[in-house]
Amino acid sequence: MCFFKQNIPVYDDVNDAFRTVKLDRTKDSHNSGENLVFVGVMTANMYLNTRAKAVYETWGKNLPGKIAFFTSETSIAPANLPVIPLPGVDDSYPPQKKSFMMLKYIADHYAQHFEYFMRADDDVYVRTDRLEKFLRSVNSTNPHFIGQAGKGNQDEFGHLALKDDENFCMGGPGIIMSRATLLKVAPHVRDCLKNLRSTHEDVEVGRCVRKYAEVPCTWSYEMQSILYHNGSGTEAFTGPLKQREVHRAITLHPIKNHTHLYRLHTYLQGLEIRTNEAKLVHLIRELVKTSEETRLSTPRLNDPVNGIFLDHLGMESTLQKWNPALESEVLTWDFVSRAVFHLSDANPRHRPTSGVNEGLEDVTRDVMEIINRVSKERGRVIDFKEVLYGYMRWNPTFALEYILDMLLLYRKYRGKKMTVSVRRHAYIQIPFGPLRIHEYESISDEEDPDSTLGIQNIVQVVVKNSLKDFENLQYQVPQRDISEKRNPKKINFILPLAGRFASFQRFMDDFRRICLEGEENVQLFVISFRPSSTEEDTSENVEALISSLQLDYPHITMSVIQTNISFTRAMALELGARQCADSDLMLFIDVDMTFTSAALDRIRLHTVKNRQVYYPVVFSEFNMQDLGESRPSSYDHTLIDEDVGYWRAFGFGIVSIYKCDLQLAGGLDTSILGWGREDVDLFEKVLKSGIKIFRAADPGLIHIFHTVDCDKNLEPSQYDMCQGTLYSTYGAVQTLTKTILANPDMLRDS
Ligand SMILES: *[C@@H]1O[C@H](CO)[C@@H](O)[C@H](O)[C@H]1NC(C)=O
Ligand SMILES: *[C@@H]1O[C@H](CO)[C@@H](O)[C@H](O)[C@H]1NC(C)=O
Ligand SMILES: *[C@@H]1O[C@H](CO)[C@@H](O)[C@H](O)[C@H]1NC(C)=O
Ligand SMILES: *[C@@H]1O[C@H](CO)[C@@H](O)[C@H](O)[C@H]1NC(C)=O
Repeated sequence: MCFFKQNIPVYDDVNDAFRTVKLDRTKDSHNSGENLVFVGVMTANMYLNTRAKAVYETWGKNLPGKIAFFTSETSIAPANLPVIPLPGVDDSYPPQKKSFMMLKYIADHYAQHFEYFMRADDDVYVRTDRLEKFLRSVNSTNPHFIGQAGKGNQDEFGHLALKDDENFCMGGPGIIMSRATLLKVAPHVRDCLKNLRSTHEDVEVGRCVRKYAEVPCTWSYEMQSILYHNGSGTEAFTGPLKQREVHRAITLHPIKNHTHLYRLHTYLQGLEIRTNEAKLVHLIRELVKTSEETRLSTPRLNDPVNGIFLDHLGMESTLQKWNPALESEVLTWDFVSRAVFHLSDANPRHRPTSGVNEGLEDVTRDVMEIINRVSKERGRVIDFKEVLYGYMRWNPTFALEYILDMLLLYRKYRGKKMTVSVRRHAYIQIPFGPLRIHEYESISDEEDPDSTLGIQNIVQVVVKNSLKDFENLQYQVPQRDISEKRNPKKINFILPLAGRFASFQRFMDDFRRICLEGEENVQLFVISFRPSSTEEDTSENVEALISSLQLDYPHITMSVIQTNISFTRAMALELGARQCADSDLMLFIDVDMTFTSAALDRIRLHTVKNRQVYYPVVFSEFNMQDLGESRPSSYDHTLIDEDVGYWRAFGFGIVSIYKCDLQLAGGLDTSILGWGREDVDLFEKVLKSGIKIFRAADPGLIHIFHTVDCDKNLEPSQYDMCQGTLYSTYGAVQTLTKTILANPDMLRDS
């Protein structure tokens, strides 16, 4: 077995012990801030590449000290991981020998170099910044045995050989000893190992510490929350992390699946960014205040974007920051209770959206944290019960603002004990931080990396250096060089058509202007159906129009696919898709749509093969005729204004998708006849397929109003959808309100 032995490093050499954990032997807690704590993680061979690696790559990196992973003698250590296989120790459970031998090893090699020693499991997360703060607040001269004190659960009670006043530190969420404790215990570990009274490793460590260091585990109720153990087993920390328990803990246990350790790490790093941003705001306020007091001018960052934010962040927080000069500048408050009353919403009274709820939870959590910061000094705790009602508003230049009426529970535990419900008003301003703009490399098709214009090529960020202009912050799309070379992605227009020749002519006018004259790289498939019996059959005109255009623009393929079946949009799209190759980008469009070339850019950018489907939210024009207004023939259909139309957030008919992704999602349901429902069906399929859906309001895609007649012969669900669309095209809520107020009789006759 000689070759085998060669693979097992011998660790009884002190130099090796230092080298393994990358410890400078001249450093200790007096001459280095990085020698506060040594963490020994108990793990096993089977977890070295998963849990141990995850620990080392997340919190293990940021310790004010060193970390090592203690495992069985025969473990195979991955490269770059500080692993210490303990001689004579195996991976059996309970790991009593591993635990005691680890303590001895740490004491023998590292005791003089650190102040504190932590015994950790491999399924724990430690917030190292908080651990440091906590440990630096404890006088390390005394023997300490810090952990979550336990006496065993109900079943174990009486079987752990503990007296009434005896406890142990529960191992899971971590145990910390000061040097004094470690040095008193280490010489006796063999003795403790010989006198085990239970099968629990942490109970036995506790017994040993009590016997030789003569300290119990810290009796402190607070330890339950700072060394936090969640009782839901493998489910713990796999769900939402935005919880009070997670936010206030120093250690979190257990994270059974190491993938989730990385997730938790990312989340907690996000929290840290928020904390630091809050500190930044405080510092800026301090700076502005002292500058004022000393009558010096505030130092300014030579940075137009952040300058704006420094100006407003420096201001005292007050809800009167914004002084409207005009009525139109008055910021309105939304009222929140069971329902939200939102003045500028088309549906002014509605259930709080998940966003509103999450925002409120965040705010109340922060408020409670601030209120309870002085709880210990005052001998009271205040618990949150509910928000009775509140107001909120969004000040686009400064902040999100809340006024909340909160029901709280005041519990005094020092002096005269009492519990009372109290109501408190909270005035909250959450200032916006500096603007950050990330530019990502374009996400493009793997096989054709140059095919998309990178975002950085078409998006130029323009920020104006004044608060007023801040609202005009916009993304400008620079003039692009129209050539096939830079825009190689071909867009295949698929246009279902049944009758409606006048609309088709208008559509083709746009198509000629934007695509043909604009030399866009496109292809057009018109799927032409016989119109319903009431309409004249114009399919020959469709063919004639396309043929004549084709003569003028021979290099762009335009085809008409004639069918003799009665109209079904799903079948039309399916027939169009059949004309395309798997790697083709398809745009399902309707004859009432008008579009701009910028919209075509966005379609190319937002549709990514095998990855993303673009579902633009199109702007839909209102009827207006029924309200006595009419559009002049010169009307500019690219106009976007809340009086003339609305964003059709519930429309899914216009979509750009690669053919292979359409197939992957399961294709179109051609059994759906007529208009409607086939789009929702496809949307749901795409949603389930795992391909990402990108959805955004696209100001370059506008649905031109035309009168809708919902066919009574449609299936009930399709008919309802059709009626819904019909109603939403009447006009803007404000316009309708004015019309009704001016003509009160309108409502009477129905
Ligand atoms: C820490 O504890 C020791 C022993 O109890 C005491 O002598 C020392 O003054 C304490 N140090 C501080 C900073 O309180
Ligand atoms: C902790 O456990 C409870 C139930 O035991 C669960 O509802 C909660 O989501 C868990 N917390 C975390 C952060 O996983
Ligand atoms: C761990 O979690 C990840 C992400 O949720 C999951 O993909 C993986 O299958 C899980 N592993 C185990 C062993 O459960
Ligand atoms: C459509 O045309 C096909 C042949 O081209 C014919 O077999 C079929 O009967 C026609 N259907 C209708 C509804 O006219």
